[in-house]
Amino acid sequence: MTVAIDVRGEIAIVTVDNPPVNALSQTVRRALLEAAETLDAQASVSAVVLVCAGRTFIAGADVNEFGKPPEPPHLPDLVARIEGAAKPWVAAIHGSAVGGGFEVALGCRFRVAARSASLGLPEVRLGIVPGAGGTVRLPRLAGVETAVDLVTTGLPVNAPKAVEHGLIDAVIDGDLISGAMNFARAALAQPLPPPLRNRAVDCPAESYWEAAEKAVITRAGCEVAPLKALACVRKAAQFDFETAIAFERETFLALRGSAQAAALRHVFFAERAALRPPELAGVMPREIKSAAVIGGGTMGVGIAAALRDAGLPVTLVERDEPALERALANLQAICDGAVKRGRISAEIAAERMAGVTGITDYNPLMDVDLVIEAVFEDLGVKREVFQRLAGACRDDTIFATNTSYLDPERIAEGMSRPDRFLGLHFFSPAQVMKLLEVVPTKATAPDVLATGFALARRLNKIPVRAGICDGFIGNRILKVTRTQAERLLLSGATPAAVDAAMRAFGLPMGPFEAQDLGGLDIAAFQRRAARARGESPVAPIADRLCALKRFGQKSLGGWYDYEPGDRTPRPSETVAEVIAEEARGMPRHDWNEASIADCILWPMVNEGARILSDGTANKATDIDLVEIHGYGFPRWRGGLMYYAQAHGLGKVADALRDLAGKGLAGPPCDLLVEAAEQGCFPGGGNQ
Ligand code: NAI
Repeated sequence: MTVAIDVRGEIAIVTVDNPPVNALSQTVRRALLEAAETLDAQASVSAVVLVCAGRTFIAGADVNEFGKPPEPPHLPDLVARIEGAAKPWVAAIHGSAVGGGFEVALGCRFRVAARSASLGLPEVRLGIVPGAGGTVRLPRLAGVETAVDLVTTGLPVNAPKAVEHGLIDAVIDGDLISGAMNFARAALAQPLPPPLRNRAVDCPAESYWEAAEKAVITRAGCEVAPLKALACVRKAAQFDFETAIAFERETFLALRGSAQAAALRHVFFAERAALRPPELAGVMPREIKSAAVIGGGTMGVGIAAALRDAGLPVTLVERDEPALERALANLQAICDGAVKRGRISAEIAAERMAGVTGITDYNPLMDVDLVIEAVFEDLGVKREVFQRLAGACRDDTIFATNTSYLDPERIAEGMSRPDRFLGLHFFSPAQVMKLLEVVPTKATAPDVLATGFALARRLNKIPVRAGICDGFIGNRILKVTRTQAERLLLSGATPAAVDAAMRAFGLPMGPFEAQDLGGLDIAAFQRRAARARGESPVAPIADRLCALKRFGQKSLGGWYDYEPGDRTPRPSETVAEVIAEEARGMPRHDWNEASIADCILWPMVNEGARILSDGTANKATDIDLVEIHGYGFPRWRGGLMYYAQAHGLGKVADALRDLAGKGLAGPPCDLLVEAAEQGCFPGGGNQ
């Protein structure tokens, strides 16, 4: 039984029980429709309370039905049936009421929710708009502005905020069912409000819509769904219910088959799969109750903040008191920033800081379950840290390194119990960026690896398993990005043109702007190390800029010039001269936005294919996730490898051959050539 009816006096309780998240499968839709019929016919019943079993209210559509033709009864008909029921329905929400789940709740005459519940219409995150009246009923319930916020961002609202905005009628503390029944009895004693379909909307002036459209375009860039969602709310505000519903349905159906929706579905499934790698099925992660971070620099402080966000007590270890003070002040600044942006309250910020212990010796680390090392990128320093840790910690404490480029196998050499050691590569700023590369060594125990994945989940991050090589997955591809960007300069493009092309493609920043932000010195250090290993990285211009001490924004000059206190990049004459000197005698090409993007992206895809063929990544979707969550690759393009597949791998291989002919890239690797014949990468997902 997915839907059960329990009549208690004049109130019927309808319980949906479809684990794990009470998704709106066809069986649930049919059973709910039948429940509405049955209860309308029962004279003794005056009101219906709709609840869900398990950990959540209806958390949306059934993902197993994604991309398949929907079978009746369709969700809009179910919502309309509940709305038109002879007895008022009260949705009693716990967990999440999202997507179709929230639309069912909007069909109910009333909504109450547990304090911890959240509600939302996240459809735009899948490249679609709500398809069962969400954009039409929401403005009739809570006004246009709230509806626009919810449907164009897809962000959830918690129950206390939902009451403030009129999305729900009451927050229930204590037992949800009895609270909802009491609410229903009280509601029956009053004149009933009309169903949402019969309520009027206050339509704002034209200037509101213009501003809303601008705001959506600024936020969503080239994503189509948010603008379409806005158009649906506008229709709902300006036209009658039936016209608006028809428009919403038409928009929903058109978007469902779009390339962006397919790409966003691909990412959605890739993210779900990333959290549960099949090779770790049945392996229990270890319990982590406390953690320590060694090194309170840029990364250590961000990692400590991420651990505190997840509620873990943190010990932060620095090498001396002044460095510790600086680190704690920077951590405080992160908390203050979160308060300022309204993300957390001042009380929570104080609680976060109270959960951090700063120390400069290793003795108090005996009880921690996990230590993450984020000291200088130097093999000797890191090894010494782990030696000291081995003396200070229990012998089952998990040790992790956040190294970017060093070989974790070498860091672990001579370590006692190397089975407890792995790489956990966070991205900067670590409290914000969602990617976590999880890097096992040959000795890492399966439950230690599983703990790395479980930690990512707890920190609300996306874990991707990466093999050991120079730069793991992400930074190895980044090196190619930078090489290509520099090759473009040597063949006639300007930094501003390259950056503009990559922004037009959908990246938040171009490669030169990003280097100026992060600092050119880190990459210069990597190149020195690579040259010492006998490699020959291509960066003649970046090398010259570093020799001129142009390290980026922090030195008021890098690829661009900067004014003090102003991050606006200004084209630099010095850089133009360096480029002209280095490019002397080299063939020049005419570049436009599209050809610049191709010259950068296809060699990145080629490197991705090499990463697949040498086993550094398990599957192409993992590379997609690395690019999206570590480097801002546009989610709506599905990730680097998906984008190439959607473009056509044969065309990508040809373009690479063409670039190779001009000396601007290497030829397609074997795996890419094979994948071009197959039409997809191994593990690349369906188109
Ligand atoms: P950083 O230079 O900002 O911080 C390093 C901190 O470690 C300093 O505060 C220093 O005082 C402290 N430290 C040095 N030796 C220590 C010791 N023996 N005991 C305790 N503390 C010690 O460096 P950053 O950028 O935070 O990088 C740290 C690690 O994270 C490096 O391995 C780096 O490659 C890696 N990483 C850096 C990223 C970035 O974007 N900056 C991104 C991902 C990884």
